[in-house]
Amino acid sequence: MVKSIKRKWQERIKRKQVDYSALPHHIGIIMDGNGRWAKKRGLPRSAGHRAGAQTLKKIVSFCDKIGIKIITVYAFSTENWKRPKNEVAELMNLLEEYLKQAEYELGSKNVVIRIIGNLEGLSSKICTQIIKTQKMTQHNTGLILNIALNYGGRDEIIHAVRQIASKVKTNKLNVQDIDEKQISKHMYTGNIKDPDIIIRPSGELRLSNFLLWQSAYTELWFSSIYWPDFSSADMLAAIYDYQKRNRRFGGI
Ligand code: FPP
Repeated sequence: MVKSIKRKWQERIKRKQVDYSALPHHIGIIMDGNGRWAKKRGLPRSAGHRAGAQTLKKIVSFCDKIGIKIITVYAFSTENWKRPKNEVAELMNLLEEYLKQAEYELGSKNVVIRIIGNLEGLSSKICTQIIKTQKMTQHNTGLILNIALNYGGRDEIIHAVRQIASKVKTNKLNVQDIDEKQISKHMYTGNIKDPDIIIRPSGELRLSNFLLWQSAYTELWFSSIYWPDFSSADMLAAIYDYQKRNRRFGGI
């Protein structure tokens, strides 16, 4: 009770500090710390992932409300297949369930849901749900939620290089025309603006193969909070810190 009052106060203070005319356009989130959150409470890791999925819904709704345009979240990496089989299966079930619910809960709030990553590695059941959710929300005009699934930054670059090479081979693209814009266009994220800020909770200080091409000039924000505990006040704190950064993009 005391904790929730403290949080509300923190949020109220942060709400006043943020400049809503200079919000980051695109926020990336590495939703880390679910396992440790569960362990701390004597719960199975799957309970942490479930709590993390609930947090995602809350954070997406909050960001949509304050005017953030794009959120990209890291839900399952190309390396996460190394986890115990039951954890992978639970995560896949949770993702499918999340997409089913999000279609209505977030879709009705005008959110566009897109999946980025290598869909070939996923089960046909989850692919069917992905197609359905994307189709149901594609004409919405609100916040775009990119869910990175079976995603790896290096895998994405390999995929883009293969596509470009094949276009060159079939004379659809000149070697001289390969530039940053072309490469970005072939990333899973397509032509959307690069993330302005990437948030990683849980105390780890690395990108872990997330948005490697897109994060060349992204601001990074780390926090020791586990993802299931991440609140709108934490989001506002990240945005407030971001607004104090001096982004020079290599200039002076
Ligand atoms: C990293 O935390 C998190 C993941 C590998 C999965 C993230 C998934 C969710 C938040 C829920 C499902 C997502 C959606 C979109 C419904 P970890 O498990 O490695 O935590 P740890 O480092 O504390 O062990």
